[in-house]
Amino acid sequence: MENLIDYMKTRRSALSMTLEAPGPDKAQLTGILEIASRVPDHGKLAPWRFVEWTLPARMAMHKDLLDLLARRPDIGDQPKKKQGTDKLLHAPCVVAVISTAGDHPKIPEWEQILSAGAVCMNMLVASNAYGFEAQWLTAWYVYEDEARPVLGLESGERVAGIIHIGSCSISKNERPRPDLDAIFSIRAD
Ligand SMILES: Cc1cc2nc3c(=O)[nH]c(=O)nc-3n(C[C@H](O)[C@H](O)[C@H](O)COP(=O)(O)O)c2cc1C
Repeated sequence: MENLIDYMKTRRSALSMTLEAPGPDKAQLTGILEIASRVPDHGKLAPWRFVEWTLPARMAMHKDLLDLLARRPDIGDQPKKKQGTDKLLHAPCVVAVISTAGDHPKIPEWEQILSAGAVCMNMLVASNAYGFEAQWLTAWYVYEDEARPVLGLESGERVAGIIHIGSCSISKNERPRPDLDAIFSIRAD
């Protein structure tokens, strides 16, 4: 358990642009997804699904998204948006976590969405457990209605995260962390 505490206290994401082959093979990815699915899930709805975006699929999506950007000058800061789109092409393995949350007679949608966030976080930890580095990204296109068919989203679905997984030998610096005194309090009455 001490090792787990050390890991959790120092865990960091990698930058997707630094991720190289090898990525997880089929059995390793299955293991990562099994662990990712093992999250708190009020009502046992499994209100999320995974789609592995292979490189050929990502190349096709990349082209369609750049075409969309070119057609839509109203989408501001195009160089930055293009950069964000280029991130699709880098890591050896990319998996979209799609929230399928919706109306339910007992379980609020908010709780279903939170469960999808837990899935993404578990996927980062599971990737590390299998010896890989990973990053949880979104991008402009997950919030753009016109991009929904490109991403293969069904009605009501939302991308919770695009998880980039691969290998990376570059060491990661610590980043500033929240000041616990500022965000923790005790209520005694
Ligand atoms: C929902 C969500 C979306 C994110 N999208 C991006 C993104 O589009 N671009 C980016 O640079 N970082 C994004 N991040 C942050 C990265 O995951 C970043 O690697 C992280 O904040 C560093 O965290 P860590 O090293 O503490 O794990 C996102 C994080 C979350 C939770």
